[in-house]
Amino acid sequence: MAAGTANQSEKMVHPAVKPLSDLLGTWKGEGEGFFPTISSFNYSEELQFTHSPNKPVIAYYQKTWNLISGQPMHSESGYWRPKPDGTIEVVIAQSTGLVEVQKGTYDMKEGVVKLKSELVGNASKVKEITRVFKVENCELSYVVEMATSLTDLQPHLRASLKKL
Ligand code: HEM
Repeated sequence: MAAGTANQSEKMVHPAVKPLSDLLGTWKGEGEGFFPTISSFNYSEELQFTHSPNKPVIAYYQKTWNLISGQPMHSESGYWRPKPDGTIEVVIAQSTGLVEVQKGTYDMKEGVVKLKSELVGNASKVKEITRVFKVENCELSYVVEMATSLTDLQPHLRASLKKL
């Protein structure tokens, strides 16, 4: 890519999004799901962060498949809205019908985004969801924890992905 083109596309990234620009792109990897009330499972995942020029928002899209059978599993999509003060607001709609409003912080010097649900809606048993993302050495990893009406907050998902 010509230097002029790179500069042009860098300029088009909104200043609010710039600190998180390492996330932008398509990531692929594998994860493991568990919870005290279910059997553990393994999945493959594709995850995308995209940005429309000059908009202070990152679009998020995630799809998973059963690692052994290849059957589609959970998917979700939403929007990440980082603020210049290091806080971030994320909305997510899940394929199960559950919706989340997440609030938290990012520290891209440490490569960490931490989210905690402020609202979980249209859920039969989920009471709280936390998500921690880490970017390090071109690898994106995350842990999702949840609390349900029967079980305290604890991990449900752990995955690690590489940028395509
Ligand atoms: C089970 C929520 C993401 C696959 C469950 C249960 C809940 C739940 C509430 C039932 C637990 C119980 O009965 O005590 C969520 C939430 C997610 C999420 C809130 C995201 C924040 C995923 C993803 C996958 C997945 C990404 C697949 C890659 C499963 C499976 C079960 C399960 C296979 C067991 C189902 C069964 O045995 O009936 N999840 N889940 N979940 N989840 Fe998730």
